[in-house]
Amino acid sequence: MTASTETHSAPRRLGPAPDPAELDAAERYSADELAAVQLERLQWTLRLAYENVPLYREKFDRAGVRPQDCRSLADLAKFPHTTKQDLRDNYPYGMFAVPREQVRRLHASSGTTGKPTVVGYTEGDLRNWADLVARSIRASGGRPGHRVHVAYGYGLFTGGLGAHYGAERLGCTVIPASGGMTARQVQIIQDFQPEIIMVTPSYLLTLIDEFERQGVDPRSTSLRTAILGAEPWTEQMRQEIEQRLDLDAVDIYGLSEVMGPGVANECAETKDGPHIWEDHFYPEVIDPFTEEVLPDGTEGELVFTSLTKEAMPIIRYRTRDLTRLLPGTARPMRRMAKITGRSDDMIILRGVNVYPTQIEELVLRTAGLSPHFQLVLTKQERMDVMTVRVEARSDCPASRREAAAADLLRAIKDGVGISTEIAVVDPDTLERSVGKLRRIVDRRQS
Ligand code: DLL
Repeated sequence: MTASTETHSAPRRLGPAPDPAELDAAERYSADELAAVQLERLQWTLRLAYENVPLYREKFDRAGVRPQDCRSLADLAKFPHTTKQDLRDNYPYGMFAVPREQVRRLHASSGTTGKPTVVGYTEGDLRNWADLVARSIRASGGRPGHRVHVAYGYGLFTGGLGAHYGAERLGCTVIPASGGMTARQVQIIQDFQPEIIMVTPSYLLTLIDEFERQGVDPRSTSLRTAILGAEPWTEQMRQEIEQRLDLDAVDIYGLSEVMGPGVANECAETKDGPHIWEDHFYPEVIDPFTEEVLPDGTEGELVFTSLTKEAMPIIRYRTRDLTRLLPGTARPMRRMAKITGRSDDMIILRGVNVYPTQIEELVLRTAGLSPHFQLVLTKQERMDVMTVRVEARSDCPASRREAAAADLLRAIKDGVGISTEIAVVDPDTLERSVGKLRRIVDRRQS
């Protein structure tokens, strides 16, 4: 009899940690070398923003700072923050620092008012982005020649195309599967034999279930590495994914306003939180209320300043993501701890950003429904499910409720791009506390 019932062996590594010669020069910079590059790039970025983007000129002038006041990295704290609202107010092209004709690509992410935030990239920006995603895939264990199945959505969302060009840049064979059509994804994985999959963690769990439904042992697939991000995920989820697929699962972080995927990536050899690619993005963590810059190791809101972006430099962008900055390990650049939450109320549902105000707008437009609603988030078979519980108007006949639910379901699908469940309830039945309805009830962790 064996002492242990443990059947899981160590995940099947793609390869050892990269040889130092394989790394980008910046991945080997000393602290002094990195700081020197950062300061030079920061000063360039502040000038570019001030001279070309009216929003930054106004903000800097109002705060009484000029680009030349930045003589050290610590001086950045004197400069004003940028928020998602600033991007929305300058929709679509007002944040660009170059003539629109020099913008080679646009992406967008969803916003509260139905207006997305738009981001643009010059040729140079696209080159840097591909380089950084290539660096991220290599940190995850990928090497030239590997097959990479990209199941992040292609389109205005940065996930699909961002992953795609990075994998090509590294010299991989890309399988541009995009999201959806789960049964077909499973078939493609079996036929094309990818070593790597890039996908949201929740969708990967759905794929694992589909393998099992089709009678295929997920541990028998060709996959060796999963590069997972676009939504929060936990260490428990990592363990489950690694166990059920027999591979290494690593964390990729990014946001469209700053670039897209590949702002930070975990190293497969340590799996101790994403290293921020600090030669291109300068991170700070602030107290979300006082806006004071916090020392490394303290939890607060992550703020980024781009250091090389040409089309849309971004100064002290408030990500709303709550985390801590940690010292470098596998690489000298600093890491970020797993994101513990958001300082605003954005919901990330299966990788799609959803704001309660988007739903509100659609509820208000649906005949028979009152503006009193609550979003209940649960997990069903590992997938996030959002139920919109909404009170019927008192004058809405019972016979009309079903049609109202169907109307809202369609409006959310068309307007926000997500599938939800709708429960139309009696007037005044949703629980209120001090007269206020709790908009979001998140039961996903329980
Ligand atoms: O989600 C970019 C991306 C695509 C990252 C593919 C990784 C992989 P947005 O749609 O703008 O961009 O959403 C950005 O998603 O502020 C975080 O709240 C969340 N997020 C992204 N990556 C992670 C992660 C893309 N690894 C927002 N862990 C961010 C936790 C993440 N949250």
